[in-house]
Amino acid sequence: MLVTKTKSWQALQQHSQQIAGLSLADLFADDPQRFSQFSIKLPGLLMDYSKQGVTTETMQLLCNLAEELGLRPAINALFGGALVNTTEQRPALHSELRRPSPAKAEVKLVLEQMRNFVTELHSAKYTDLIVLGIGGSDLGPRLVCEALEPYRISNLRLHFVANVDGDTISRLLQQLKPETTLCIINSKTFSTIETLANAKLIKKWLRNTESLIAVTANQAAALEFGINPTRIFEFWDWVGGRYSVWSAVGLPIALTVGMDNFEKFLAGAHAMDQHFSTADFSVNMPVIMALIGIWNINFNDHTTLAIKPYADGLQLFPAYLQQLEMESNGKSAAAHGGMVDYHTAPVIWGGVGCNGQHAYMQLLHQGTQVIPVDFLVARESINGPRELQDLLVASCLGQSQALMTGSKNDALYKVCPGNKPSTTLMFDKLTPETIGQLIALYEHKVCVQGFIWQINSFDQWGVQLGKDLIKDLLQLIHTRELQNVDSSTEGLLNYFFEK
Ligand code: F6P
Repeated sequence: MLVTKTKSWQALQQHSQQIAGLSLADLFADDPQRFSQFSIKLPGLLMDYSKQGVTTETMQLLCNLAEELGLRPAINALFGGALVNTTEQRPALHSELRRPSPAKAEVKLVLEQMRNFVTELHSAKYTDLIVLGIGGSDLGPRLVCEALEPYRISNLRLHFVANVDGDTISRLLQQLKPETTLCIINSKTFSTIETLANAKLIKKWLRNTESLIAVTANQAAALEFGINPTRIFEFWDWVGGRYSVWSAVGLPIALTVGMDNFEKFLAGAHAMDQHFSTADFSVNMPVIMALIGIWNINFNDHTTLAIKPYADGLQLFPAYLQQLEMESNGKSAAAHGGMVDYHTAPVIWGGVGCNGQHAYMQLLHQGTQVIPVDFLVARESINGPRELQDLLVASCLGQSQALMTGSKNDALYKVCPGNKPSTTLMFDKLTPETIGQLIALYEHKVCVQGFIWQINSFDQWGVQLGKDLIKDLLQLIHTRELQNVDSSTEGLLNYFFEK
């Protein structure tokens, strides 16, 4: 059944009109204990959604929507390996990668291979590790290595290279020595043009393929590229690129913080899997986060979402979630055929901590658009001074309070209208378990939203056209035969050719 034809969706449309006049200030005035009812606590992680424009009735209607659509059997199907990626006829079993004792023998094998390689490398001569990859083959390891820097046990200097920027590569190679540099080529397909272009350059520069490692689902291509078979780490087509940090794509994490911390990272995600697959929807963190997003996007037309982590270790989290959310749910074709007639994924953007308060928060406080915010903040830093953490927490909570209450003033230009929704995630510390929990939380939120929007969250056909056109444009640049191109491309290429 079309989601917009369900009783719950129609009840929500009516309800949103009924409570349109209610402000966040009214909701808190009506129930001074609002926080206790609109927050969920898990071990080491609290989600406060009391500053979202919802009532108990709103939440009941949203949970009814999930029930009416069959979310529970859908969650069971996801974990059970159903072919949820309908256009590619594949399961999405990234949760298998973080089980404490993996059911799949191949997962166990690769974890063993990773552990052995990490041990071997820690006594090797390498000083630098170049990690080539883009999208899900870059964002996950880059984010988690940054987040877990305080847990570093290796002296390997990490260099992530995703873009094909010759200046970056040449600057990097001037600083490194081939004989002490290792290079991981992270590519599920082993056919991504950017990664292969960089890989060919590095292979030539290294002169010795023994320092080349491949992490891929395409072993044949890696062998053909000249990678030593013992240096190939496999993952599988039932792991989507943007869901692959839990696989050997996460090898840079294990090399930096050690395999024990990598397995704690997996364990944090597994704990979220357990919660997601068993908790009642009304106290299910990913489900509630997803439903709040549906409420904001589909019933209040707030079509962007700002991610504001008050922790430098999470400064790459907005970029990570851009791929996770927008490549998963930036779709308009319905899985059951036809096109959707409602908004789907929000535009994800954001930035770290206090910095935004001195940049774009002006628009969120006094601009013409309502932009929901997800704030993330730790109770404690790993080893920083208490007074700075107090200032971070005061800043984070102050921003969400300012967005909620606003301020009155005779001078209009000084007024902050307030009544702007936000959710705050507060966690104990940025540990391996916590970053695992947080990523899994958003993975499951995205999956729930994709299910409710009746789209396929696990393919990405929209990026294919751009990939195809790169080849055509390269052909034009090499041949300079511009007869059949649009005048913009022709004009730009002619300017590009001018010397
Ligand atoms: O953007 C398209 C995409 O296929 C992503 O889904 C993926 O993470 C990225 O390109 C890299 O793909 P690969 O890991 O196959 O190089």
